Amino acid sequence: MIKVLLTGSEGQLGFSIKDLQPKGVQLVSLNKNQFDLSKINKIKKNLEAIKPDFIINCGAYTNVDMAEDEKETVMDINANSVKEIALYLKKHGGSLIQISTDYVFDGLNSYAYKVSDKVYPLNQYGFSKARAEKFIQEILGESNQGIVIRTSWLMGTISNNFLLKMIKMHQTKKEINVVSDQISCPTSTKTLSEACWKVIKLKLEKDFYKNKFMPILHWCDNGVASWYDIAIAIGEISAKNRLVDSPAIVNPINSENYPTKAKRPRFSLLDCTSSREFLGLEGEYWRKSLEDSIKSIAEK
Ligand SMILES: NC(=O)c1ccc[n+]([C@@H]2O[C@H](COP(=O)([O-])OP(=O)(O)OC[C@H]3O[C@@H](n4cnc5c(N)ncnc54)[C@H](OP(=O)(O)O)[C@@H]3O)[C@@H](O)[C@H]2O)c1
Repeated sequence: MIKVLLTGSEGQLGFSIKDLQPKGVQLVSLNKNQFDLSKINKIKKNLEAIKPDFIINCGAYTNVDMAEDEKETVMDINANSVKEIALYLKKHGGSLIQISTDYVFDGLNSYAYKVSDKVYPLNQYGFSKARAEKFIQEILGESNQGIVIRTSWLMGTISNNFLLKMIKMHQTKKEINVVSDQISCPTSTKTLSEACWKVIKLKLEKDFYKNKFMPILHWCDNGVASWYDIAIAIGEISAKNRLVDSPAIVNPINSENYPTKAKRPRFSLLDCTSSREFLGLEGEYWRKSLEDSIKSIAEK
């Protein structure tokens, strides 16, 4: 039986990864206290005790605005820890799935970013995630032991995410202002978890990665949207599922009118074409994914 270590197990993605655990896998799910990525000098020892065949690294410092003021902590949790993990795997064997982000790009493109496009992060969070990608490429690149999966605008059924915040807004406000000039695609934690487990399944298929390997994958749901579009969809779908009586009016605003500490890319859509082909997975239209998530929140 293969042993998979999941870090950040109590985050929204960690929650879905656990939920979709396939048969034949021993999953060691550890939360922040049980496997602390900020404690760099303990990582090697912790891994020596676990001896994982795979690591799905979902633990991360994810508060993009606070990250601007905590550069060192962010760099430790999001990048220096990954370097330690990669060094351990290089020596002892095993593979890493590292979750990365559309925020490694600057958003100046007018077409969806390809896996091979150059990264230019605009904020500390993006910078730390890009640094992690580089460590993986440098340490595990030759041996095909590391796969980076970049995703965008993750939304699951727990945690402090945009979906849950918007449901609350629609429940309590008559009108809300939402940024309409940042464009990407929301991604359900469920579809991303399926992609993570598929990476492991393919890796176990003998010789698959010898003939065909992609060190960086892009995974988001299908389509394109602004935060404004998503906010409207959340209101409509939540009303259909009786989570909201009457959705709030959503007004589109520009990023200038919603100042945040961290700069965000204006257009960070990820081109998933080659990744979907590689994984043999089709992907789900974002609104359908959102419907599934809201339905499951309503059922709870
Ligand atoms: N959310 C998005 O829109 C988005 C978009 C693109 C990529 N990603 C990436 O997707 C991955 C999963 O993110 P998510 O959305 O599931 O975020 P999340 O819900 O914030 O989960 C992150 C988890 O990491 C934990 N964590 C924080 N500091 C840690 C540490 N020092 N050691 C170990 N764990 C620590 C958090 O614990 P606490 O909550 O207790 O701090 C939390 O359980 C991350 O790599 C993130 O960068 C997210």
